[in-house]
Amino acid sequence: MKAPTAAANADDAIGVPVPHESAELHVSGEARYTDDLPELAGTLYVALGLSRHAHAHIVALDLAAVREAPGVVAVFTAADIPGENNCGPVVHDDPILADGLVQYLGQPVFAVVATSYELARRAAALAKRDDVVRYEPLEPVLTISEARALHHYVLPPQRLTRGAPAARIAQAPHRMSGEFEVGGQEQFYLEGQVAYAIPTERNGVHVYSSTQHPSEMQAVVAHMLGWPAHNVVCECRRMGGGFGGKESQSAVFACVAALASTRLSRPVKLRVDRDDDFLITGKRHDALYRYEAGFDDEGRILGLRVEIALRAGYSADLSGAVATRAVCHVDNAYFLSDVEIVALSCKTNTQSNTAFRGFGGPQGALATEVIIDGIARALGRDPLDVRMVNYYGAGERDTTPYGQRVEDNVLAALTAQLLDSSQYRARRDALAAYNAASPVLKRGIALTPVKFGISFNVEFLNQAGALVHVYRDGSVLVNHGGTEMGQGVNTKVAQVVAHVFGLPLAQVRVSATDTSKVANTSATAASTGSDLNGKAAEAAALTIRDRLAELAARTLGGEAQHVRFEHGQVHARNASMPFGALVSAAYLARVQLWSDGFYATPKIHWDASSMTGRPFYYFAYGAAVAEVVVNTLTGESKLVRADLLHDVGRSINPAIDLGQIEGGFIQGMGWLTTEALFWNRDGRLMTHAPSTYKIPAVSDTPAAFDVRLFANDNAEPTIYRSKAVGEPPLLLAFSVFLALRDALAATAPGSRRAPPLAAPATPEAMLSALDALYAERDDGTNRAASPNAGPGAGGSPADTYTTGAT
Ligand code: MTE
Ligand code: MOS
Repeated sequence: MKAPTAAANADDAIGVPVPHESAELHVSGEARYTDDLPELAGTLYVALGLSRHAHAHIVALDLAAVREAPGVVAVFTAADIPGENNCGPVVHDDPILADGLVQYLGQPVFAVVATSYELARRAAALAKRDDVVRYEPLEPVLTISEARALHHYVLPPQRLTRGAPAARIAQAPHRMSGEFEVGGQEQFYLEGQVAYAIPTERNGVHVYSSTQHPSEMQAVVAHMLGWPAHNVVCECRRMGGGFGGKESQSAVFACVAALASTRLSRPVKLRVDRDDDFLITGKRHDALYRYEAGFDDEGRILGLRVEIALRAGYSADLSGAVATRAVCHVDNAYFLSDVEIVALSCKTNTQSNTAFRGFGGPQGALATEVIIDGIARALGRDPLDVRMVNYYGAGERDTTPYGQRVEDNVLAALTAQLLDSSQYRARRDALAAYNAASPVLKRGIALTPVKFGISFNVEFLNQAGALVHVYRDGSVLVNHGGTEMGQGVNTKVAQVVAHVFGLPLAQVRVSATDTSKVANTSATAASTGSDLNGKAAEAAALTIRDRLAELAARTLGGEAQHVRFEHGQVHARNASMPFGALVSAAYLARVQLWSDGFYATPKIHWDASSMTGRPFYYFAYGAAVAEVVVNTLTGESKLVRADLLHDVGRSINPAIDLGQIEGGFIQGMGWLTTEALFWNRDGRLMTHAPSTYKIPAVSDTPAAFDVRLFANDNAEPTIYRSKAVGEPPLLLAFSVFLALRDALAATAPGSRRAPPLAAPATPEAMLSALDALYAERDDGTNRAASPNAGPGAGGSPADTYTTGAT
């Protein structure tokens, strides 16, 4: 990793790699997460009784045994909910507690309140007994393909068409069609879902929730209780990771804690353990693709049709917006003149899938990366060359399928810089020589680009508010609507406010996100946290600074607009004074020393019916080169080197941005290589703990890891010309997956078929792809002789490649 090379003006808070504001607290264990808050006397603990069936009617609920279990204070069911039994964020199809019908295995059916966490969990485990919950099982729909065949959707299909893709494909010199699948991904935030609810006077409740979306937690709790929103406060100081999993799905925990707390007039905590967290909450949508492409001799795509069938799970949750973002990222870095994209939100009797870093964007963009890889192999070309002929260009080659022009494209320059720093071409030649001499170990390399749209696809969500207080001693407190989940939004917002006042960063403190301070906030999501809240906090600080400048000009001479705030001093025409002294004077002069600030992203609009508009304020870009080595006897693989070059605009904090890029990349690699979710025939998720679900460890980061920022001011006037960084780098991990395909291809030199490797590329999937390659190499007659023959995971069906116009 390169040390950040910011213009290190020690006094200026912008562009400096200052550590995360809680870094020391994180490593010393002093950072307070929701479960660390000191518990009030009388606190009770609630646990959830979960469904044992993927799809069933509840015919009898006899909770006497649960009520009589040791330590149990109360048991609640759907019937105890005074208001709306729903915590769905968009469509009201998410019961808080199942009411007569269960739609996935793991769905909360009842809540047990007890005097200890252990006793609550023991009593809740009685949900397994037939005499406690009696079911009449119904036929479950468990896979994407079943749901698609039945047209079983949680929301109507989304379709975007431009030009005449079918005709262009039919006329193209070459054609390819195929299928591909990618698995889901558990968010695996280190801090599990948790809520702590404290009843307050006159029908009030204060809910501490580990959530990316305090305003929504406030709203769903209020609806559930049948109360006005002002009775409910939701507060979150920080999360130990969210990754999208706490955007909507913190709701069931906040609601159940609030229900128990208000019914019993006692503080109540709900913390689920890792296994239950896996069983209850939704994950990244896995997807099944069907595609058809027409292309020319150079691999230029002339027509493309892609259908993305996403597993939504049993309810809509955020699937509509996830599907839209998937559709809007199929193009990734490439101009698609004639294209049809269909996204299906398939309804299955499994957890309700939700936001996960990238929010459908990765699932959309991966399709085209895999297709381009297939095109390159069909033509016998380097996939990189095929990528580059398809890059967005100037003139009419700069418009996305949804009609937004790509005005800030830097991929040509960025790719050139990365090719140089990574020595891609030379290494590709060296790898070919290595592979020719190495029968068992094969190496592969790939360069993949990213273009990621920044803004919520839903226009109204692109707003934020902040509240800045300057106290009489000159210290500053900031509150804003964003939530801190480790990504550093509080650090960046503090840097912005410190910069406005010309103060050292230590003089600015950011307080917990709290719905009683800033109202009607959006989720901290879509990577927009710093963009939106940074601007809102800047606006608030500027309002105060203007008032102070006016006073300074009045007392020290000159004009207000020429007063400068630097290095803790305020400079007017005739004299300077310390910031703190000016603030004291302002207080005595009765100048308002606090202000709100508001920001709404300009320029964006979206027509959901035609799927056209300008959904994104700007794009973030990046590219990565990954090199892997594969053991073709065991299917094991390792990433040996990665070179990442990523565009964060003009960085507010290069240390935090580099951390986001590394973390996003490694998390994306986990999705595409080791993290495999498996449901058994009953619809039970069998991979629900680190013992059966493998997320990347420190040892999985490559020994050679070169991560750099691409110098590029945002073309739009975002906060200090920076760019959002939270999600886009996750897509850089496509390079790892495609490098694995490249290594597999080395086992079949001369083959024109892309290795049929599905994601995640677990050793089983690698062996299954190798089997298919060997079978083809041996002309299908010698299958048993392949080293990996035998039962194994089903791979991805091979592409069908034809040449010549029909
Ligand atoms: N980084 C850390 N450390 N922890 C997280 O939970 N979530 C990611 C990303 N980076 C996450 C993270 C996701 S899904 C999003 S949308 C953004 O951070 C949200 O924060 P931002 O908008 O402030 O970038
Ligand atoms: Mo991030 S998936 O938008 O919370």
